[in-house]
Amino acid sequence: MQKIAFLRSVDIQRADPYIQRTVRELAGEGIEARLFHTHGQAGEEDFPGGRQGVDPAVTPCELATLVTQWGADAAVSISLPCENTLRDAATRELLEADGVPTVITPLAATSLLIDKWETKQLLLRAGLDVPRGIRADSDLLAGRGLPVPAYADALRAGAARIGYPLLSKPLWDSTSMGIRALPDAAALDAYLLDPPPVSAVIEECVSGDLCSVDIVGEPGAYRVLPVCWTGTAGPEPVFTFADLRWCGPRPEADRGFEPVAARLVALCEELGVRGSVNVDMIYGSGRYSVLEVNPRVGGATTLSCAASDTNTYSALADMALGRYSPGDVRRTRWAIEFLSPGRVPDGARAELAERVDLVTAHELVIDGVSHGEIVVFTLTDGEERQTVKALEDLHAGTGFPRQEILDKIRTLLAPP
Ligand SMILES: Nc1ncnc2c1ncn2[C@@H]1O[C@H](COP(=O)(O)OP(=O)(O)O)[C@@H](O)[C@H]1O
Ligand SMILES: [Mg+2]
Repeated sequence: MQKIAFLRSVDIQRADPYIQRTVRELAGEGIEARLFHTHGQAGEEDFPGGRQGVDPAVTPCELATLVTQWGADAAVSISLPCENTLRDAATRELLEADGVPTVITPLAATSLLIDKWETKQLLLRAGLDVPRGIRADSDLLAGRGLPVPAYADALRAGAARIGYPLLSKPLWDSTSMGIRALPDAAALDAYLLDPPPVSAVIEECVSGDLCSVDIVGEPGAYRVLPVCWTGTAGPEPVFTFADLRWCGPRPEADRGFEPVAARLVALCEELGVRGSVNVDMIYGSGRYSVLEVNPRVGGATTLSCAASDTNTYSALADMALGRYSPGDVRRTRWAIEFLSPGRVPDGARAELAERVDLVTAHELVIDGVSHGEIVVFTLTDGEERQTVKALEDLHAGTGFPRQEILDKIRTLLAPP
């Protein structure tokens, strides 16, 4: 019997309902899947295969040992965010040295992609647009190690050359954590007096539409999932899930994305990406400016799978089994995602599933904090108006979804 280990660091819900389908399909073929999860809970409904809770403080060496002791034929990482991606990439090196194949991007490439400054350099070399930026080193700013008295002034000069407003982003963090707005030179002065504890990239604030795309595959075989639209970029970062997030027709932007996709695939090829990357971008004035490339599944995975009738988790399993084929992937329907700040009211839940094609409604937990429930549904092109009507009726009866979300869905699907 073949055995595939899935390494995970967070609750499974964000992979719902795709991971469950994958595990059941594998079981149907007599392939055993086991989840090695270091955080959160996982029950039978979350991962209908084997499950093994692992100490969150596990080292890569210990994790590799657990996987080999179980007798895995292959290991797949579905961990996030980036600190856990690095853990799994280090585990990968040990597993591969031990003869266990993995669906995990090599450590050298992962180390570059989890660092926003290194990623910017890679993107520039790949011919992609990025926000202009400078690197702010926390040791030099704090005067640790070598004293460099001119360092702050060097950053001021660099910032002035780019022009305000600027943003400071930690090189390593995720979900907009630690981002600071620097609207003007006075804000930079205050920042330099109270610098962040971690190194950062200070970059120009780009305006436009936030979007995200997943690229899934291995050298020689990548599939580019449809672009997901995730909000509006402004001078202040907003919570990743605050706005309506959707995947739907946008012909001009889709055409403009083709050469960007080709360059991103070439970059994945060059880095030897194996698994999934999730690319965050801003689309403005007809151009895509790339913010970051997360070397892992990401916040748009569910949306893009729902909109394209693909399952990224099955694709990862296929890579593990040596039978992956990227296929011809395109958007086949709309997929829309929104956050309900509280639980979906019990009365509305069943009715929602009756009225729309519900993909998932699950609690969103980030760093142990609940942000409410994430709802994802799909509709076929052409069903826009009847979907709006169905949601209006649901709202009239139950107050769900809340007015603000309903208005946004109406504007998106049935503009006046
Ligand atoms: N250069 C930029 N211009 C405008 N907004 C930005 C810029 N960089 C980041 N943001 C905002 O901050 C969010 C998070 O930035 P991102 O680079 O994706 O880092 P992370 O997701 O790792 O926190 C983006 O979704 C966007 O809202
Ligand atoms: Mg991001």
